[in-house]
Amino acid sequence: MAAPLLRLLLAAGPLLLVTADPIRHKPGGNETLPLVMWHGMGDSCCNPLSLGAFKKMIQDEVPGIYVLSLRIGDNIAQDTENGFFMDVNRQVAQVCSQLAQDPKLKGGYNAMGFSQGGQFLRAVAQRCPSPPMKNLISVGGQHQGVYGLPRCPGESSVVCNWIRKALNNEVYTDMVQKHLVQAQYWHDPLKDDLYKKHSVFLADINQERAVNQTYKKNLQLLDKFVMVKFLQDTVVDPVATEWFGFLKTGQSKETETLQESVIYKEDRLGLAAMDKAGKLVFLATKGNHLQFSTEWFNDNLLPYIR
Ligand SMILES: *[C@@H]1O[C@H](CO)[C@@H](O)[C@H](O)[C@H]1NC(C)=O
Ligand SMILES: *[C@@H]1O[C@H](CO)[C@@H](O)[C@H](O)[C@H]1NC(C)=O
Repeated sequence: MAAPLLRLLLAAGPLLLVTADPIRHKPGGNETLPLVMWHGMGDSCCNPLSLGAFKKMIQDEVPGIYVLSLRIGDNIAQDTENGFFMDVNRQVAQVCSQLAQDPKLKGGYNAMGFSQGGQFLRAVAQRCPSPPMKNLISVGGQHQGVYGLPRCPGESSVVCNWIRKALNNEVYTDMVQKHLVQAQYWHDPLKDDLYKKHSVFLADINQERAVNQTYKKNLQLLDKFVMVKFLQDTVVDPVATEWFGFLKTGQSKETETLQESVIYKEDRLGLAAMDKAGKLVFLATKGNHLQFSTEWFNDNLLPYIR
C-alpha cells in the first residue's frame, strides 16, 4: 500500500530535521536497538515509495540504527507475491531463522509490522523468543483477523476477485487455507466452529484451540505491545481488530473490545496480564489505513524504537 506512505514522505520535508536526536545520549551510553519491519499486503520490503523510503526516514531520525526490512523470498517480486500466496506459518518460520542468524540482532530488537505484518510479527514473538523482541509495534495490524476485504490492492484485478470469491465460499477448506495468506487470518463470526477448527494460522496464534503455554509466556516477554488503529480505515474490516477487538460471535454487526473478549477474560494469551502490567498501548490516529503524518509518527511511535 504505497500511496499513503508516499504521501507521508512527501509531507515529511523539513519536519525530519527539527526533531532532536536523543538516542546517542542515552543514559548508560547503550546503542539503540535494531528495528525489524514487516511490510503489508501488496507491498514489499524495499519499495522505494513505501518501506524503502520509510527505512531511510527512520535512519535519518535515529542515526546509526540498524533497520531490517524483511523480504520474504529471493527478490522483490517474490516478496510481494508471497504476501498473498505463501503459507504464513512457513513465512514466520523463515523469518525466525533469518532473525536467529543475524548477528546484529543478538542483543534483541524492536519490531514494527505494517498491516498484516503486524499479526505476523506477533507470531514471531510468540513462537521465537530468541533473539528477544522488546517492543512490538503493530501499525494497522489485524489481530483478530478480518471479515471482509473491501479494498484489496489492485482492486479491479482478476487476482483480487478470485481471492474474494475464495474467502467467501471456501475459506476454511484445506486447499484455500494452505495457499491463500488472507484466508489464514479470515475470521468468520458466523462460522465460528469452522474458524476455530480449520484456521491454520490465526486460530493457532490466538489460542482458539488448546492454550499453548509457550505462546503465552513468550508474548509476555515483550516490554510493550503497541497497537495503532486508523480511525477512518476503509481497508480493514472491522477496524476493531487493529486493537485486538472483533465482531461478537454469531453475528456480523456488533463489535466487542479486547477487554470484552474471551481471549482476554480467560487470559488465554497473557494479554490481560500484560494490560495490568501496563504493557499494552492503544494508539489511534486520524486517517485511512497506514496514513499518518511524520509529526504523529515522531511523537507517538518513535519513542518505542529509540
Ligand atoms: C546497557 O547494556 C548493558 C549490557 O547489555 C546492560 O547491562 C545495561 O543494563 C544497559 N544499560 C542501560 C541503561 O540500558
Ligand atoms: C506451542 O508452541 C511452541 C512454539 O511454537 C511449539 O514448539 C509447540 O509445539 C506448541 N505446542 C503445541 C501443543 O502446539
